[in-house]
Amino acid sequence: MNKDVTGIIAALTAKKGKAPVTELTAYDYPTARLVDEAGIDIILVGDSLGMVMLGYPDTTHVTLAHMLHHVEPVARAAKRALVIGDMPIHTYDTPEQALQTARALVAAGADAVKLEGGVDKEAHIRAIVQAGIPVQGHIGLLPQKVLEEGGFRMKGRTEEEAAAIMRDMQAVVRAGAFSLVIECTKKDVAAAVTAACPVFTIGIGAGSGTCDGEVAVFHDLVGGFPWFVPKFAVPRANISAEISRAVREYAASVPLPPQV
Ligand code: KIV
Repeated sequence: MNKDVTGIIAALTAKKGKAPVTELTAYDYPTARLVDEAGIDIILVGDSLGMVMLGYPDTTHVTLAHMLHHVEPVARAAKRALVIGDMPIHTYDTPEQALQTARALVAAGADAVKLEGGVDKEAHIRAIVQAGIPVQGHIGLLPQKVLEEGGFRMKGRTEEEAAAIMRDMQAVVRAGAFSLVIECTKKDVAAAVTAACPVFTIGIGAGSGTCDGEVAVFHDLVGGFPWFVPKFAVPRANISAEISRAVREYAASVPLPPQV
């Protein structure tokens, strides 16, 4: 049965100010199926897969081919949750290219797409929305700018930065996005943007209870990538320790044939 994407987005939008919206990443069939069956509202096939699935140092190495490969199994698994496909770096440099990329992600099974940027991406978001594809914006810290900016740094620390984030929110909303992610932004700024924002905001590293919902990277939630854990992550399991234990136990249990 086809999903009622418009109905799902309307129901999530109606939660604003009443109930939190939950969003979690997933990049493969079994994880997406577990996340969907656990009742998460939105599954994001994030370009964070570059680090936690493909072993790159950041998201700037992720290509559209990588994203399509991971969106397909997630879309097969998610019967209920809204599936958002992330648009990788340099696949939305112009509004025309943005629309082409969004169409490719939808053809792979995404219900909606996400892209990073605010005022500079207003026309790009508008082109996608006008073609009937729902867009989630992404403002505050933009991981695809890590090389340009020389690292990751909390946003909204000066009045100018806070005002720029507010302008980014307004541009994303004007362009027709149904929601936006606010990443690694000072909590008072994230709260002020959320209060002024007519669509629902989703926070990550932007303080607890400052946004209409939260998103987490699946591996940060379950302890699945022990080599790097962001400061703001709240792990609720330690699956890497369990995997290591099971693998060692298996290795120690493999028997020799009887010696004759
Ligand atoms: O790629 C991703 O997982 C993201 C989230 C951190 C919002 O963009």
